[in-house]
Amino acid sequence: MQSMSRYYIQTYGCQMNEADSEAMARLLEKAGYEPSDSPEEASIILLNTCCVRAKPEQKVYSRLGELRPIKERRPEVIFAIAGCMAQKEGQALLKRIPYLDLVIGTRQFHRLEEFIHSCRQGGQRICALGLEDDPSSLRAAPLVLPASAEMNLKAFLPIILGCDNYCTYCIVPSVRGRQKSRLPDEIRAEVEALVERGCREVTLLGQNVLAYGRDLPGNGDFVSLLESLNGVDGIERIRFTTAHPRDVEDRLIEAAASLPRVCEHFHLPIQAGHDRLLKAMGRGYTAAYYLEMVERIRARIPGVAITTDIMVGFPGETDEEFEASLELYSKIGFDQAFTFVYSPRPGTAAAKKPDQVPQKTKIARLTRLIELINASALRINSSQVGRQGEVLVEGVSEKNPSKLAGRLRNNKLVVFSGKENLVGRFVTVTLTAAYQWGFAGEVRA
Ligand code: 5AD
Ligand code: SF4
Repeated sequence: MQSMSRYYIQTYGCQMNEADSEAMARLLEKAGYEPSDSPEEASIILLNTCCVRAKPEQKVYSRLGELRPIKERRPEVIFAIAGCMAQKEGQALLKRIPYLDLVIGTRQFHRLEEFIHSCRQGGQRICALGLEDDPSSLRAAPLVLPASAEMNLKAFLPIILGCDNYCTYCIVPSVRGRQKSRLPDEIRAEVEALVERGCREVTLLGQNVLAYGRDLPGNGDFVSLLESLNGVDGIERIRFTTAHPRDVEDRLIEAAASLPRVCEHFHLPIQAGHDRLLKAMGRGYTAAYYLEMVERIRARIPGVAITTDIMVGFPGETDEEFEASLELYSKIGFDQAFTFVYSPRPGTAAAKKPDQVPQKTKIARLTRLIELINASALRINSSQVGRQGEVLVEGVSEKNPSKLAGRLRNNKLVVFSGKENLVGRFVTVTLTAAYQWGFAGEVRA
């Protein structure tokens, strides 16, 4: 295969970005390009970027430096940056990186082929950042059909783009635009098409999936969507992420409890555990509300996993507020958490606050938080040893190639011995040992 017709995509950030990268990959394949694992062989090099914290941005800049010699050796290669950082930096990226050809914002990737053509034919450098509600960028999303047999089993499906919240720390609303829901019929048709290709599990994606439908005429809503998708034959598991705790209503808990295909897992980013911090973050709920809500979910859905995102070192966070937060997290008992150090994002309200927490304090708090989360994950998992659960076998274990790995309905990982022909199948396993990351198990004979 000649290098002229290969593409290389590297993705940073969240599952939404992964889904966007998949869509771009499908678009490029439709245009006649083939995937490559190596930028050395590719004629299109695309980085799909994240700007939620400073770290992923720095990673992209250093990767760009590494890739520069390729463009020097082969100037005909198209170098592109897409995604959140592209949206945020825009023209500044073209200025800063002289060998960059293309900057594609978060709602422009459906025009990828056209842009590449203009770069190739006209030698133009392009920066496309429109965030207007262009329905064709939504229509590009149905192309998020998985590429390989391996990925056929599980798919990620964006159902709502953008975000209308204004959490004071967060850059995402400004780079992903206003909330825009995809049409329910379109989503259902896409799930049906995925099933045809062998998909058994779908994860519905959005910055806040619970806002789904608010912008649609006739007001479809998230629970109705779950009900509809639960009726698609052949889809065995329906997951969703992320859900804003403020928007969790009894109707949702009821739907998750009663719809057989909706999995027993809620990812509910708490961010902080003290009311003053939650207020300063603009989260719209209190510590007591969150605790009570989790208790309601657990009472109604046995075996449910509650996972979260937590940030330490928000401006003005005192030792007392941090300790109170830890106490709350310990009371809630999270199954797992993504933990972050607050990173000031220029242009957000919180970044302007004068009382930024010193980096050393942030790191010390993060260490304690991670210890607490690890202990709580292990405690919960240990209490489940001896139980049986249904696992969708995903493949060979990454850490131990002599074993298979898959996930329980509550999304916890199980590693176990078994023949490779189990891949893609549902098996019942007995959980024999607990770890922070999940379980060792045995397939029931
Ligand atoms: N600094 C650190 N973490 C952040 N997040 C969002 N914005 C920031 C920021 N400025 C975290 C939140 C969110 C997750 C995707 O990233 O916890 O839920
Ligand atoms: Fe990163 Fe947020 Fe963009 Fe996802 S939506 S890639 S987390 S900035």
